[in-house]
Amino acid sequence: MMTLARARRSVLYVPAANERAMTKAESLACDAIIFDLEDAVAASVKADARAALQAHFSASPTSTKGRIIRVNGAATAWGAEDLAVASVCKPDAVLLPKVETAEQVLEVRTALDRSNAPDTRLWAMIETPLGIVNIREIAALGAKPSIGLECLVAGTNDLAKETGLPLPEGRSTMMLWLASVIIHARAFGLDVLDGVYNDFNDADGFTAECRQGVNMGFGGKTLIHPKQIEPANTAFSPDTALIEEARAIVAAFAAPENSQRGVLSLNGRMVERLHAEMAARTLAKAGIVFNG
Ligand code: COA
Ligand code: MG
Repeated sequence: MMTLARARRSVLYVPAANERAMTKAESLACDAIIFDLEDAVAASVKADARAALQAHFSASPTSTKGRIIRVNGAATAWGAEDLAVASVCKPDAVLLPKVETAEQVLEVRTALDRSNAPDTRLWAMIETPLGIVNIREIAALGAKPSIGLECLVAGTNDLAKETGLPLPEGRSTMMLWLASVIIHARAFGLDVLDGVYNDFNDADGFTAECRQGVNMGFGGKTLIHPKQIEPANTAFSPDTALIEEARAIVAAFAAPENSQRGVLSLNGRMVERLHAEMAARTLAKAGIVFNG
């Protein structure tokens, strides 16, 4: 059975100041948790949040989920101490907020390597106009394995704040920027996650935004509330129809009589070997191993 260890369909933020929620998050069905030291933690309790986070990691040094720590930016009064705590906690990744240059990512890599955390990966939030403008130089770090950048996260609330744009239904005004983040991430082999949906009691609106994210090419969604986990997992997993279609395509190309063929007709549609590769990826994502 193929594992879904690297799935990032549902990535839940939890304020590091909230011990109860941190513990709860570990038992929920999200694929990964982002422990937040940045905007979800008030300035007056930054130090308490850091201490609570360290206590949480030392009480539960391992987890079945991906664990990410979002630090404050290096230019803030808290950035350096946050990084120091992250290098002790050794999460899977550190998430850098408001990234605007490749240099900012490189500096954190150097700091983590010096603090004996060379295996800690990096995630970058793209959430300011300058971050969007410089997206190519930032995403291009994905092509350098030594940097360990593996994921970009769209920060839609900050983008709305910085541009003065409201977040209208359907996010029409933001499409161009989000699409730019996605295509750059894919060009350089990075995963890419959609921003949060603030109205956690609006289930229909949330599901619609998840679907939009799937169709745009996001690999998963960042979340703020436990209620959003199941719908995100469903939206970002292949559905039954897609799985059945994938099985049929893989089976058709695996048939001995088709072993020399590059293109087939299947149920009235053309399928090529590239579709078989896509189908195999769909099955792997669904945790299905095809045995011919
Ligand atoms: N992670 C883990 N558990 C969470 C959670 C989260 N993000 N949000 C809520 N919960 C828990 C609550 O602790 C509560 O658990 P309990 O019943 O065991 O006490 C339960 O889910 C129900 O919570 P609810 O009462 O509906 O919400 P709330 O009023 O306690 O919290 C928010 C609402 C928005 C403050 C909270 O969801 C939150 O802090 N979200 C994350 C915000 C964040 O990190 N933002 C930064 C990035 S945008
Ligand atoms: Mg932000």
